Amino acid sequence: MPKTIVGLDIGRAAVRAVELENADKPRPTIVRAHEVPLPDGAVAAGDVRELQTVASAVRKLWGEGGFKSKDVVLGVGNQRVIARDLTMPKLGTLQQIREALPFQVQEMLPVPVGEALLDFYPISESAGEHGPVVNGMLIAAIKESVLANVKAVQTAGLTALNVDLVPFALVRALARGPIASATVVLVEIGAATTHLVVVADGVPQFVRMIPSGGDDITRALMQRLELSSAQAESLKASRGLGLTPPSSELEHVGAEVIRGVVHELVNGIRNTLQYYVTLRPGQPLQAILLSGGGSQLPGLAQSLGDTMRLQVVAPNVLSTFDVAKSAQKAAGALQSHTVALGLAVGQAA
Ligand SMILES: Nc1ncnc2c1ncn2[C@@H]1O[C@H](COP(=O)(O)OP(=O)(O)OP(=O)(O)O)[C@@H](O)[C@H]1O
Ligand SMILES: [Mg+2]
Repeated sequence: MPKTIVGLDIGRAAVRAVELENADKPRPTIVRAHEVPLPDGAVAAGDVRELQTVASAVRKLWGEGGFKSKDVVLGVGNQRVIARDLTMPKLGTLQQIREALPFQVQEMLPVPVGEALLDFYPISESAGEHGPVVNGMLIAAIKESVLANVKAVQTAGLTALNVDLVPFALVRALARGPIASATVVLVEIGAATTHLVVVADGVPQFVRMIPSGGDDITRALMQRLELSSAQAESLKASRGLGLTPPSSELEHVGAEVIRGVVHELVNGIRNTLQYYVTLRPGQPLQAILLSGGGSQLPGLAQSLGDTMRLQVVAPNVLSTFDVAKSAQKAAGALQSHTVALGLAVGQAA
């Protein structure tokens, strides 16, 4: 049996995994995919808070999903991960540039260099004032929070082969087929975090994480209307931005609350992207690829498209991946597994 690899996405609302065969080939095969919901509080703002709860959800994920491999690639991408433009002198190899990072970037970090995991992602090369430079992205994650994810996975009996940034996983899952040669923005709205990635010709150009998502709407509904979390979730999913006339006062006020929170989120996305557009006027955005559970809110895609004056499309992972018989049942849910899928893509099993 060919070796496989699993991408494991530990989200606020669920743990999800996708197992790939031929992960490092142009057209990998999805052999298994599954998700297990997480209770509130187990993961907060992208950090594992309750190790045992998460580990047992991951064990359950393996049990129910029938994953064959124990080798996983984990995602990091919480609000404490920093992605910033950085230009480094081109002194030697990429490895040497990476080794020089701790001496160059302290002032860009909110924590001491020793508490961060640093990486550099090159985008282009140019001539600087004092010689050739590499323009790229600095990625800095808090060691402690990455290690907590790794620990949860090890406690569940798995091996973390690699850890990668969630936005890069999104690029590998979605910037494929015709999208691989376009300039688009990937917007993944989760429960607690919204990821933005501008990708041009398959190369990530700009990465930002906004600390809000679908849960902000739920919380606002709970507070304003004194609802339980289940009631608020149900009102949110059924009413969305209130595209149909409300049939009760609750629905009326609910729609107003939802609109307020969505307005803030959409404006946050717009302002963040505005910064990018100003930075690179020659590289206009062609479309938004919208994913993540939070993007399911009725009316949200339309609202985002109107605000950004861009076409919004839902990614179709089935057009660029093969799906094995063993994963047919999960195929309908694959749209919500983009992060887990992308974490496995490109990895040698
Ligand atoms: N049909 C729907 N309508 C509105 N909101 C929805 C719908 N389905 C899911 N959501 C919301 O999507 C969010 C969960 O999204 P997702 O599963 O992508 O989050 P996550 O990956 O676990 O979290 P994060 O990435 O922030 O750590 C929740 O806030 C949930 O209420
Ligand atoms: Mg997520």
